Amino acid sequence: MIVGIIGSGAMGTGIAQVLATAGHKVHLLDKNAKALERAAQNIKDTLGKLSKKGKLSEIDAAEILDRLNFTEAYQDFGSCDLVLEAVVEDLEVKQNLFREVEMIVPEYCILASNTSSLSIASIAAACEKPERFIGIHFFNPAPVMPLVEIIPAVQTREGLAEEMKQQVQSWGKMPVIVKDTPGFIVNRVARPFYGEALRILEEGIAEMATIDWAMTNLGGFKMGPFTLMDFIGHDVNYRVTESVFASFFYDPRYKPSFTQKRLFEAGYYGKKSGRGFYDYREGATQSEP
Ligand code: NAI
Repeated sequence: MIVGIIGSGAMGTGIAQVLATAGHKVHLLDKNAKALERAAQNIKDTLGKLSKKGKLSEIDAAEILDRLNFTEAYQDFGSCDLVLEAVVEDLEVKQNLFREVEMIVPEYCILASNTSSLSIASIAAACEKPERFIGIHFFNPAPVMPLVEIIPAVQTREGLAEEMKQQVQSWGKMPVIVKDTPGFIVNRVARPFYGEALRILEEGIAEMATIDWAMTNLGGFKMGPFTLMDFIGHDVNYRVTESVFASFFYDPRYKPSFTQKRLFEAGYYGKKSGRGFYDYREGATQSEP
């Protein structure tokens, strides 16, 4: 299969690695040349580490890299069987890029979005052939996390969700088919997790490092809510919260927090920008629980 992935950020890079490892030819596209360079370097480093640990032979690592093409040109998508986008969580941006993609890809090409929260029906509505559109939602980091949510829209042709489920399984992942509702399963359950943690902080009940410590050491979570939001990135996480809140007709259960909004506005996106709830810059001291 030949796959086109749009957006070489955290998700697009991870997904490209998964698909090239599964044996597919992958064109990873971004509008930003620096993001493409970073993606190429990240994948190379990750494969190098796997080889060093003896989890991947050097020949296999070289073949995976060979299957990857880093590009800024949609023309490379001319013979794609699947195009999956992982760009910024913005409906208009996603709709516009699929309009462009449909002018280039073959009739049989399946179109998919990795959106965390936007309605699949609304992205599909921008397409000339919405029946070939579906949500395929990976988790971060994509090479490590097994779960993938598959979300057919009302327009998606019968049988495509099941076909994609089998395809995703062949990539070594564990897919579930979910209805096209805001946040699907995981991001819906996660909203109150973040929201309540933020309210506990804002009400002065406990400090964030204490809340994170309690949730990991006592609650059994792999990451506390503040560490997790910093890892996801507040640019992504805040937008998802706003989108889920609006999509549930402003149900107060999903209300965004000013604390997170200010981080987002300041460009304190978390780990990726060096500052978020915590300070990741060199020499910074971390708060103790
Ligand atoms: P990111 O900010 O790391 O990467 C986005 C990339 O898309 C950037 O490299 C940017 O240059 C590129 N881009 C933006 N507009 C573009 C366009 N019009 N054409 C080509 N490239 C464009 O974002 P991230 O975290 O990878 O998220 C991407 C999508 O995946 C979002 O829809 C997000 O909701 C979803 N998602 C994010 C997860 C996370 O934990 N970060 C988890 C699962 C899904």
